[in-house]
Amino acid sequence: MLESAASEAATPPVQSPRQLFESSGVKSVLAQLDAELVGLAPVKSRIHDIAALLLVDRLRAQQGFDSQPPSLHMCFTGNPGTGKTTVALRMAEVLKQLGYVRKGHLVAVTRDDLVGQFIGHTAPKTREVLKKAMGGVLFIDEAYYLYRPENERDYGQEAIEILLQVMENQREDIVVILAGYKDRMQTFFGSNPGMASRIAHHIDFPDYTEPELLRISELMLQKLHYRFDPGAAAAFARYIALRRAQPHFANARSIRNALDRIRLRHATRLFDSDAPLQPEQLVTLEAADVLASRVFDSPTPDDSDARNPA
Ligand SMILES: Nc1ncnc2c1ncn2[C@@H]1O[C@H](COP(=O)(O)OP(=O)(O)OP(=O)(O)O)[C@@H](O)[C@H]1O
Ligand SMILES: [Mg+2]
Repeated sequence: MLESAASEAATPPVQSPRQLFESSGVKSVLAQLDAELVGLAPVKSRIHDIAALLLVDRLRAQQGFDSQPPSLHMCFTGNPGTGKTTVALRMAEVLKQLGYVRKGHLVAVTRDDLVGQFIGHTAPKTREVLKKAMGGVLFIDEAYYLYRPENERDYGQEAIEILLQVMENQREDIVVILAGYKDRMQTFFGSNPGMASRIAHHIDFPDYTEPELLRISELMLQKLHYRFDPGAAAAFARYIALRRAQPHFANARSIRNALDRIRLRHATRLFDSDAPLQPEQLVTLEAADVLASRVFDSPTPDDSDARNPA
């Protein structure tokens, strides 16, 4: 029987989760996440679930039900530019608002930040990074590079062992997020069951659809105080469709890079004109700024037919 049943009459009613959701500031962080990040529905819903778990945990603690804090180490898998780093930053904020971590900062590292070149260098490096990340989130990008099975005495193993200890023993003060490609991460977990068993949440980041990429580009431009005129918007939609099919496409990251190059062409176009500028022109990107991209050069079968009617 639950112990609280006896003292039911004496204990005040439990605060409603919704009240706590609003008063803790979690609601506003999650609303901001929804508004500022396009798409990512499965990712957002997992973050809501984690927030709910922690809020209910807090209500339970208020009622004296002691429970171990849940393990929150996570793995974010997905292709480049799908928002893993961005979401990890937001996750750190959410965890801070929920009182799970003290500081809510994010320390982002890769293998080279953890593993030394010489014997005896790895442990101090890894410990230094962990010290910096305490009270927040340690984000390890391409975490599978820590494990190099082809190299028998690889120092990566030493870093993994230290991480495992800290993930187990200090889990109320640090959240570790491993990030990278899904297939490589699965191989890594296959060879490192200790790591696999400490990761409670696996979150997969899907590639963005064309409409999502277009929406992301609009948000990015809005933040930078630029906009597409209708011709540029149509040209950029075509750009996305072409670029997405090319090698090395990196989702939102490729969009950001494309916008940088478009801004460069816009600036050059304005710079080359002798006529006085209207303020409007400083913020308006035109179709020509987009269409000068090399992405439009690679001929599709239809294009090449048009160019070589023979
Ligand atoms: N859903 C989104 N909505 C708006 N902007 C986004 C979204 N996802 C990513 N971005 C933007 O795209 C850029 C790349 O995202 P981010 O660095 O988080 O991706 P990543 O998955 O960590 O990529 P990588 O694997 O290359 O490190 C950032 O500038 C980020 O702000
Ligand atoms: Mg990243």
